[in-house]
Amino acid sequence: MCGIVGYVGNQNAAPILVEGLTRLEYRGYDSAGIAVLGGAGVQVHRTVGRVRDLTAALPKRLGGKVGIGHTRWATHGPATQDNAHPHTSEDGRISVVHNGIIDNATALRQHLTNAGVTLRSDTDTEVLAHLIARSTSDTLEGAVVDAISKVTGTYAIAVVDSANPNTIVVARNGSPLIIGVGEREMFVASDLAALVRHASQVVHLEDGEFASVTATSYRTFTMEGHDTGKVASDIDITADDLELGGYGHYMYKEIVEQPESLERMIQGRLDDRFGVSRLDGLNLSPRELRGFARVKILGCGSAYYVGQIGATMIEELARIPADAEAASEFRYRNPIIEADTLYIAVSQSGETADTLFAVEEIKRKGGRVVGLVNVVGSTIARACEGGVYLHAGPEIAVASTKALTHMAVGFAMIALALGRVRDLSNADGRRIIAALRAIPGQIREILRAEADIAQQAKMLAAASSLFFIGRVRGFPVAREGAQKFKEISYRHAEAYQTSELKHGPLALIDESVPTVAILPQDDLTDRNLGAVQQIRARNGSVLAITHDAVDFGELDIPRITVPRSEPELDPILLTIPLQLLAYHAALTLGHDIDKPRNLAKSVTVE
Ligand code: F6R
Repeated sequence: MCGIVGYVGNQNAAPILVEGLTRLEYRGYDSAGIAVLGGAGVQVHRTVGRVRDLTAALPKRLGGKVGIGHTRWATHGPATQDNAHPHTSEDGRISVVHNGIIDNATALRQHLTNAGVTLRSDTDTEVLAHLIARSTSDTLEGAVVDAISKVTGTYAIAVVDSANPNTIVVARNGSPLIIGVGEREMFVASDLAALVRHASQVVHLEDGEFASVTATSYRTFTMEGHDTGKVASDIDITADDLELGGYGHYMYKEIVEQPESLERMIQGRLDDRFGVSRLDGLNLSPRELRGFARVKILGCGSAYYVGQIGATMIEELARIPADAEAASEFRYRNPIIEADTLYIAVSQSGETADTLFAVEEIKRKGGRVVGLVNVVGSTIARACEGGVYLHAGPEIAVASTKALTHMAVGFAMIALALGRVRDLSNADGRRIIAALRAIPGQIREILRAEADIAQQAKMLAAASSLFFIGRVRGFPVAREGAQKFKEISYRHAEAYQTSELKHGPLALIDESVPTVAILPQDDLTDRNLGAVQQIRARNGSVLAITHDAVDFGELDIPRITVPRSEPELDPILLTIPLQLLAYHAALTLGHDIDKPRNLAKSVTVE
């Protein structure tokens, strides 16, 4: 999605803006630009393509100690230089970068055209530059407030004015925006990654908030002009967390660092004596935990699939009816919100617009919603009434891996908390805790089989269409496996319930369509083996993701085995080889693994 950076201080702004934009590259974009205020007035440079294309197009000397920059992911109008941000007013005085969507842009564009303004882009953003320039307010802050009062929709904006060259004014509604506090310099950004090298503290703006930022101060205020007195907090990640550190791809780095990051996540959160998890951040007393009659999990994409894994864990361990739903659907169907349901919003970025909207809808209707979120201080984390941070560290690759494993472990801990105030015995609690503690070591064991998994991935990459099948606990695992595979290999990968194969999709099976079967040792093993026989009988090849204990009898098919956990937690380990399968298939096909086509890391628009 789009990214924003801004700088005001004593250094040359252009290199800092370009570096910040590079740090936002992982979010996905199609054009980039900067505006710098210097002795020569404002200079705006924009290009289609990557930040390196922008860097190549910049003049050698680009002086100026204040500036804003943007990476764009096209919504209104194609990726062209004219549509790239920053957008400027007719007199060139005002420059604006914007994330989000202005809903009434068409009417405002018409209004401006009628007033004699010549619009130079197809974007919704350009109207902001003209509205600010045409305001009668004598301060930049006032002009921005004026303009914002005329728009509806979502936005994070940063504005500079060549007539007021020491200030950046920003505003936020529905799109993240933060201020980074440095040593006699300030930054603005849509994402911590853009400013973590320079700033030591951060201020998170709320929806409806504005800020005026100079090199040495910031003032946060409301539309009505009231100070909101925001205090900065320490930044919890370091620049090193964002480095590739010798790995070829972020996705690979994020897969192999899972054992360590999970050890960090569970530390101090498991109580062996009482067989329970300690999740103080949930802000729920034992009595409140006992009071819930149902659990509803909301997330998007892979977070939704892990939500399905989590729902099964909660049903099995706590015996509370639980299900997961795509937040992108939930928000549009006037959902019934129940007072005795615990709603859990799950998100790596904490900024996914659909998930955030679902959270707001639940709160609006009086429901209780907690978060399972990775990014500390993110919008969803702050919107929820409590939650569990994933502590996975920054995830840069667009295809999510480690955050999902952390989510699954987070759900296991929530299931423990809910189960132990009900009928889950102390012994069963301790059984799950021991299994959770074993998971990092077991993932290390799976990673040691990488060469074999890579071999299998090469064969799968040769097919243009694949099935991923699983049953009950294994079905969301199959969904996530197919999602990861299609996302970065661009192969058609379809997930199906193993039980449903014979009700239709079996018609597609032949020697050209391989199947990846999630086949753990459990009470459904024989049925799963039966389905594999049916595929083999139609000449379909099958790769099993399985346990050593499964007896394949006469069935001679390739297998990737994972160590056994407790049955309720098996999905966590079964997912790991699927990450490596997707990674190695994409590597074989020579794709841009960390930035797959058409996708963005965090989807902050609808
Ligand atoms: C897939 C993937 C996406 C995200 C989804 C939700 O690899 O990364 O499907 O899971 O866009 O994102 P978050 O978790 O940031 O809300």
